[in-house]
Order: sequence, then C-alpha cells, then structure tokens
Amino acid sequence: MTRTIYYVASTLDGFIADGHHSLDWLLKQDIDQGGPMNYGEFIGGVGAVLMGASTYEWIVKHQVSRGEAWLYAQPSWVFTHRELVAVDGADIRFTKAPVNDVHMAAADAAQGKNVWIVGGGNLAGQFADEGLLDELIELVPTSFPQVGWG
Ligand SMILES: NC(=O)c1ccc[n+]([C@@H]2O[C@H](COP(=O)([O-])OP(=O)(O)OC[C@H]3O[C@@H](n4cnc5c(N)ncnc54)[C@H](OP(=O)(O)O)[C@@H]3O)[C@@H](O)[C@H]2O)c1
Repeated sequence: MTRTIYYVASTLDGFIADGHHSLDWLLKQDIDQGGPMNYGEFIGGVGAVLMGASTYEWIVKHQVSRGEAWLYAQPSWVFTHRELVAVDGADIRFTKAPVNDVHMAAADAAQGKNVWIVGGGNLAGQFADEGLLDELIELVPTSFPQVGWG
C-alpha cells in the first residue's frame, strides 16, 4: 500500500539546512550506509518524488549543471509558480496545483510504492496540513554535523 513519507535528514538538534540553504553537507555524506531507515533501502520503496522549487534549483545548479546525473529514477513533481527548465532525460513535472491533486497523481504514478516528500519543510508542512503525510522519518546519521546552524 502506498504511504506518503516525509523522509528528511537532520542534525541531532533538528536542523535540515545550513545557513546558506545548501544541501552540500547532506549530499557529500555516505547516506547509503546501512542501518535502520537507510537511504538505499528507503529509495527502493519509493515510486514518486515531490519537492519544492528551491530544493530542485539547488540540485540543478550544484549537481546536474556540474555533470552529475539527476538523482531520481522515479517520476518527480516540482512545486513552483514559475517556468523552470527540466533536466534532460528526467521525468520531471512542474506544478502549482493544490497539494491534494498532486498527491493523488503521484500516488497513482507510484504504482503501490511510496510517495516521498523530499522537502523543504514548508512543502512537507502543506502536506501535513492536508492530512496527507503517513509518516515522518528523520534520519540523523552519526557522520552528520551534530550542532545547529544559525
Ligand atoms: N535535510 C534534508 O533532507 C533536506 C531535503 C530537502 C531540502 N532541504 C532544505 O530545505 C531548504 C529548502 O526548503 P524551502 O522550504 O526553502 O524550499 P522548497 O520547499 O524546496 O521550495 C520552496 C518553493 O517551492 C515552491 N512552492 C512551495 N509550495 C508550493 C505550492 N503549494 N505551489 C506552488 N509552488 C510551491 C515556491 O517556488 P516558486 O517561487 O517557484 O513559486 C517556493 O518558493 C533548503 O535549505 C534545503 O537545503 C533539506
């Protein structure tokens, strides 16, 4: 059965981003490191990916435009009110539709696998407000910075 999961990495004291809104600190970690809730196992159960425009633009600017592949094989929805450019070869759908509608489409596309709300926190909050989140998984790998940012 499809579950909608906000799976988020954080420091021990609850920060999900640094002061520059960078994901560098996260993506340079070996997050596929085994253990409960590890990324490798989690992503295998994901059939659709949802994120906000800032997260998308950061990935494009800092990874894709530097030659790295788009991170997700799953159909991906990016929430934005703007006209953004999709990554070549990736299944990316830009949307400003209500979260309920997008959630329905994503759950359908997931074909029995889970829907992952990647973030940011505000988008996850919109899903929570609509009662659409089944689960929150907060990953705190021991290799992550363990102090908060300002
Ligand atoms: N630790 C983690 O696991 C993790 C994972 C992902 C992200 N993050 C962090 O989260 C932060 C980004 O979060 P954020 O909240 O600032 O940005 P975000 O959610 O990635 O993007 C926010 C943008 O998404 C669009 N948006 C949001 N809700 C929408 C809706 N209902 N309809 C249409 N568009 C909508 C708007 O873009 P437009 O202006 O284009 O309309 C909005 O400005 C970053 O600092 C990042 O590092 C952390």
